[in-house]
Amino acid sequence: MILSIESSCDDSSIAITEIETKKLIFHKKISQELQHSIYGGVVPELAARLHVEALPKILEECKEYFPKLKAIAVTNAPGLSVTLMEGVTMAKALSISLNLPLIAVNHLKGHIFSLFIEKEEIFPTTILLVSGGHTQIIEANSFDNMKILATTIDDSFGESFDKVAKMLGLGYPGGPIVQEKGLKGDENRFDFPVPLRQSPNIEFSYSGLKNAVRIQIEKLEKEEISEQDICDICASFEKTAVAHIMQKVKKLFKTKSSKHFAIVGGASANIRLRSAIEEFCKTKEMTLFLSELKYCSDNAAMIGRVALEQYKAKDFTTAKDIDVKTRLK
Ligand code: KG4
Ligand code: ZN
Repeated sequence: MILSIESSCDDSSIAITEIETKKLIFHKKISQELQHSIYGGVVPELAARLHVEALPKILEECKEYFPKLKAIAVTNAPGLSVTLMEGVTMAKALSISLNLPLIAVNHLKGHIFSLFIEKEEIFPTTILLVSGGHTQIIEANSFDNMKILATTIDDSFGESFDKVAKMLGLGYPGGPIVQEKGLKGDENRFDFPVPLRQSPNIEFSYSGLKNAVRIQIEKLEKEEISEQDICDICASFEKTAVAHIMQKVKKLFKTKSSKHFAIVGGASANIRLRSAIEEFCKTKEMTLFLSELKYCSDNAAMIGRVALEQYKAKDFTTAKDIDVKTRLK
């Protein structure tokens, strides 16, 4: 079995995965959303302190499996350095004390492999990764052969929801709250410009849309902003945010084809995005894969699934060599 640890942002999670069967034997996650909510975003120092409390609590619960462990896996990049450090420090200590090899896992590969938890992988697949930190289209041909086809030049899709929610004083994380408010709103009330509409490049940008929303909120605040105004802003913003992704995806598929398409990452829980992609896949006769909702946001099960592949390839590191990286080239 492999024990995997995830602490790249505000979720403390540990999983145990059986190597032969890919079965998830143990999986627990403690989310810090509530504690960060009052600040309208993740406070790194607070997140690190909360990992210090949560990770040992979860570890206590899976001690019975320690004699069966063959490796310790941990997310080491990308993410918040102070929070990554907490998981990595725990992994180092386990690796030394249990005399087990260490596996350093790329968090984004984790999101991709959330599709394959307790399953075989399906390649080649074109993947849309939408999270709080990333908005990417990835051509995944195999575990070792993945190419980023498009990325964001500023904010990410999920982050833009978080920022809109913060501007409206709705708390954190913004995605689920903005989506819920949007369901009660008029998506046609505000005409926010779709980002990079004229640009031929397949890339994303969310800072301009965020600013357009900010200007609209400021205008409304000159009077009193009503609950209906908030719902209408959320609906109009969400419609535009998804339209931006869809325009770029459609542009990309003018020159390429794929048998499989997948959406992963915390923001792949977005209903409007899911149904727009579903429709598009139908028109292109592509099979759409979605990770289960419980595996969309950060979790250690997806890190354990990546670690299975690295274990097979003997892709190990050591407590002395492992490092933490906030960003990856
Ligand atoms: O993957 P994840 O848990 O953490 C990162 O690796 O970033 O993604 C969290 C992000 C947050 O920005 C959150 O607001 C967004 O995913 N999110 C959503 C929805 N649910 C979560 N964004 C849009 N619509 C949603 N339903
Ligand atoms: Zn993530």
